[in-house]
Amino acid sequence: MKALDAVIRDRLYSDVVLIRQVAEYIIGSGGKRLRPAMVLFTAGAAGYQGTYHRELAAVVEFIHTATLLHDDVVDESELRRGNKTANALFGNAASVLVGDFLYSRAFQMMVGTDNMKVMRVLADATNVIAEGEVLQLLNCHNADVEIEDYLRVIRYKTAKLFEAAARLGGILGGVGVELEDSLAAFGMHIGTAFQLIDDVLDYSGEEADTGKHIGDDLAEGKPTLPLIHVMQHGTPEQAACVRKAIETGGRDDFAVVLSAIRESGAIEATRKVAEEEAKLALNALNQLPSSIFKESLIQLSSFAVARKY
Ligand code: IPE
Ligand code: IPE
Ligand code: MG
Ligand code: MG
Repeated sequence: MKALDAVIRDRLYSDVVLIRQVAEYIIGSGGKRLRPAMVLFTAGAAGYQGTYHRELAAVVEFIHTATLLHDDVVDESELRRGNKTANALFGNAASVLVGDFLYSRAFQMMVGTDNMKVMRVLADATNVIAEGEVLQLLNCHNADVEIEDYLRVIRYKTAKLFEAAARLGGILGGVGVELEDSLAAFGMHIGTAFQLIDDVLDYSGEEADTGKHIGDDLAEGKPTLPLIHVMQHGTPEQAACVRKAIETGGRDDFAVVLSAIRESGAIEATRKVAEEEAKLALNALNQLPSSIFKESLIQLSSFAVARKY
């Protein structure tokens, strides 16, 4: 991870001062670096011995960071990684444009690997993330979204990049098609669990832990699983209150929606779906030979569900 950090810092360079300021600001705020860890662990588990895994881990983190810069503009978020968001500090225009810089820098770096398969995986993942964010935009303020629609959004906007990260490790290690697909499935399930918990933490987390404002999802009228659960299993009063909050957005209804979520068991129900995803992720590792890297992947799947940040 230290070596990865050096690659990230080195590749952030631009002659344009504002790019350096914004990019170093968001990258310097930290982040868990889970997606690059996924590349490093899967590459190790697949027996890879070269150095491209660090470059690709940095590529994945750049794509992730670009999505965050854009996502915080779209979600009008003000806190990220315990600091003001880039949009709050530098404005929407700078955030969008530096997001574009990070995407395109990631693409310059991936071309450096000269591996068509790697480039296809990353190009496809980046495209699907964009589809996920747009699908989510269409679902905002829609209280009739079904669980399947919600799952599609989170698979596209979040799980796809975890899937790509895990598949890249397999490709670098030169594993067969079957093992490569298992690693990809592992990433997809972990990523799904990860976003389910993110959506739980948006109601039940602590800002000091998550480094993000609680309640951003409700403010945007996002029909996430905790809310869908209340509408399907809560009392008629609870369901009506959540429906109205999704349709109007804003933060005024946060307290009543939170009680409806707590009383209807929506947190536990959403956590349970995340746990099932984590189990599927573990099953996908059955064919992977034992190694310290495999152990780390197993720990990653527990963290995706147990995390508070
Ligand atoms: C935030 O991802 C965006 C989601 C997909 C929920 P992370 O929680 O991995 O963000 P950082 O990189 O650790 O800040
Ligand atoms: C994840 O969704 C966004 C992307 C994957 C681009 P969220 O909007 O829930 O992420 P946070 O909560 O802002 O980190
Ligand atoms: Mg957001
Ligand atoms: Mg969120």
